[in-house]
Amino acid sequence: MLKRAKNLADSVNRSKEIHIVTHIDADGITAGAIASQTLKRMGKQHSIEFVKQLDKMVLERLKNENHELVWFTDLGSSISVNSPEINKIITDHHACPDDSDLNFHLNPHLFGLDGSFQISGAGVTYFVSKSIDQKNMDLASLAIVGACGDLQDRKHCRLVGVNRQILEDGEKAGVVQYKTDIRYFGRETRPIYKLLQYASDPLIPGLSGRESACIAFLQELGIKMKDGGTWRNWTHLSKDERRTIISGIARLLLTKGFDHKMAKRLVGEVYILDEEKEGTELRDAKEFATLLNSTARYGQCDVGLNVCLGDRGAWLKKARTLLQGHRHNLVEGLQFAKDAGIEKREYLQFFHTGTGIRDTIVGIVANMLLNSGETSNDLPLIGFADKDKGEVKASARGTQELIDKGLDLSIAMKKSAELLDGVGGGHNIAAGATIPKGKEEEFLDLLEKEIKTQLSS
Ligand code: C5P
Ligand code: C5P
Ligand code: ZN
Repeated sequence: MLKRAKNLADSVNRSKEIHIVTHIDADGITAGAIASQTLKRMGKQHSIEFVKQLDKMVLERLKNENHELVWFTDLGSSISVNSPEINKIITDHHACPDDSDLNFHLNPHLFGLDGSFQISGAGVTYFVSKSIDQKNMDLASLAIVGACGDLQDRKHCRLVGVNRQILEDGEKAGVVQYKTDIRYFGRETRPIYKLLQYASDPLIPGLSGRESACIAFLQELGIKMKDGGTWRNWTHLSKDERRTIISGIARLLLTKGFDHKMAKRLVGEVYILDEEKEGTELRDAKEFATLLNSTARYGQCDVGLNVCLGDRGAWLKKARTLLQGHRHNLVEGLQFAKDAGIEKREYLQFFHTGTGIRDTIVGIVANMLLNSGETSNDLPLIGFADKDKGEVKASARGTQELIDKGLDLSIAMKKSAELLDGVGGGHNIAAGATIPKGKEEEFLDLLEKEIKTQLSS
């Protein structure tokens, strides 16, 4: 991989003008920011754009734009063979065919690694950046944010694989710290009872989703929720207080019949961005990633990009406003999906919200629902949302248990979509597709057949 990274770095070095094309999520923004910052430091003429997906139209346009070099980050693996007209390098981590002799494509899947948890799009981009100049090691913090944005810490409750090397670089450069702590979202910015109320992995029986129950639980444990007039958040608590709460939750889980494996998921590694102010969304890598998702998925990528490039003024303020909107949309989206109804089939379950949920966040909603305890999680969940131009977006999410049984949503979504003249791909545990509107039923039939085959072989 390092040798391949060097090849790509050489291409960058040789080019005078470079256009970056990246993906509209947290991993995509951080990947694009790493590439962009690297080129800026080299004094190269460069530009950047964000796309939802690489389709024929985007490729055709890029071809006509005649860039000296196009740098695809966090996407591009699907086009590596069939677009010889574009002079390009690709740093991606999506599942791809084994065309490992293509020396312009850096992708963990070409080196026997799994891009769903061992390294993200920002991570592979970081390796090229570091290969260009060791001084770029400070960009490791962005690569960690990207990995967290793609939930790469989920499988082992910590980052593993090549991500570990990036983490070490970040530590050496003094930009990232890691420690073991509660894994729930919002350590830096949420009042403690809110952290518990929104807890989802693992769910806390009796507390998740119930504000007053969370407040009562903390009072019973003797935890002071406010300091003067302000809410205390997790990082304000003493070690003892934290331990008391974690033990309390673990007890709840075990008495409600959850196993030790579940209780163990309470605690894991958390990633702290050393240079960021305490108590802000930017200090915790997971919170940072959510802030970025709040920009990118709403067509406001430059907001997230400028925050990644260091702005802590107007752009950050804008990002925070977008974050409020994103939170609202997720809550509303969950309700939309539940109201639409989750229909179960033998090998999958699905919901269709029509225009109720944006196509760019239907995957997040599907993920939340699958892990909310309100749907069975022994079937993969597919969420449909209308796009414009007569198309429908499908987002599929699975669980680790299903992956261990042979499920590969990336292959299933890609195959089924392509049979209907659509496109699809992603990771074994999370994949997406775009298909013509009206073909949903047919798509589900194809998908179900493929999933059945995967699970029974
Ligand atoms: O496009 P990209 O690869 O950046 O996105 C990865 C997607 O996979 C994210 O939507 C992330 O939430 C999902 N994922 C998941 N569970 C995992 C790993 C990734 O849902 N264990
Ligand atoms: O869009 P969604 O969040 O469902 O995407 C899940 C994963 O599938 C992401 O990694 C995304 O990049 C990938 N995907 C893809 N091709 C598509 C749609 C999604 O590779 N057409
Ligand atoms: Zn990614």
